[in-house]
Amino acid sequence: MWKLGNIEIKGRIVLAPMAGITSAGYRKYLNSFGVDICVTEMVSDMGLIYKNKETESYVTFDKDQVVTGVQLFGSNPENIKKATEIVLQLNRNIDFIDVNMGCPVPKVTKTGAGSSLMLHPKLAGDIIRAIKEATNKPVTAKIRLGYNEVNFKEVIKELEAAGVDAIGIHARTRKELYSGEPHYELLKDLRKEMTVPLMVSGNIYTLDDAIKALEITGAEAVMVARGGVGNPFLIKQIKAFYETGERLPNPSFLEQCEYCLELAKAMVEEKGELTAMRIYRSIAPKFFAGFANSRTLRTVLATSLTTYQSLINILDEFKQEYLKM
Ligand SMILES: Cc1cc2nc3c(=O)[nH]c(=O)nc-3n(C[C@H](O)[C@H](O)[C@H](O)COP(=O)(O)O)c2cc1C
Repeated sequence: MWKLGNIEIKGRIVLAPMAGITSAGYRKYLNSFGVDICVTEMVSDMGLIYKNKETESYVTFDKDQVVTGVQLFGSNPENIKKATEIVLQLNRNIDFIDVNMGCPVPKVTKTGAGSSLMLHPKLAGDIIRAIKEATNKPVTAKIRLGYNEVNFKEVIKELEAAGVDAIGIHARTRKELYSGEPHYELLKDLRKEMTVPLMVSGNIYTLDDAIKALEITGAEAVMVARGGVGNPFLIKQIKAFYETGERLPNPSFLEQCEYCLELAKAMVEEKGELTAMRIYRSIAPKFFAGFANSRTLRTVLATSLTTYQSLINILDEFKQEYLKM
């Protein structure tokens, strides 16, 4: 048990924010596997201020039981403060506000937002202070190791001085984007040096990845990102291990078919069939990545999904093949 501000958190699993993926439907389904905290896709402060309808749609979801934060991005403390007020008007059930200080995409960094804030620790702190003026709810930040150079310790000190309630860190620099091994060795015993809870992120694909990341860093929680795409059961495996010490076996092919269909259903309910299935072409193949002879299935899913029924048909056909093997 640990605390995010005044909120009690029982377990150690955060569903990490991923733009274009962690929509309300995606979160709702993955949360059902035992997530403790989840975060929306990143939301533009200016989009909210200009009342952009698509931006607002990231905030106006029906929240489930899981502690949920809205992640904002921006570079101007006053604008982020205004955006926070708007978020809380649009959805009173939001539990906390998170600030994106890690996004490496040029469209974001050139405005001074995302990982650019790693270059300006004082400004990063001022952003946290401004949000705190707008709300009593917890405020968190998601940072990287640094922009080009590693400077996360300096940034953490500024954020703590500003009153941040917890920090998530992706163990890569902006320059490294999303590839290569994350540098957990640089985060060794980091939590001991901090005054607030720590959540760690980077290549969490298996239970052992999660155990290692938590052990090295001493963090309260681990963030499941790409490793949960096509493998929601990873969340249950981490949860079971930390609750009972049990190591649950990986799901079977038939179980993955079920999970794949259930997530598709949640996304269709949220986005409508056409949009959901277009997005699902990049998600569905991931459910079968580890299985022998799955290449054709993955190609068919990536190219031929049109409707929910087409997903059922494709999986039925391959289930027959699979049962013959
Ligand atoms: C497609 C994609 C979108 C992402 N979008 C966000 C985002 O909106 N906000 C954020 O803080 N991190 C974002 N991230 C970073 C993830 O939350 C996570 O920190 C990163 O992927 C490292 O974890 P992993 O190696 O386990 O995937 C994104 C990552 C990916 C792959």
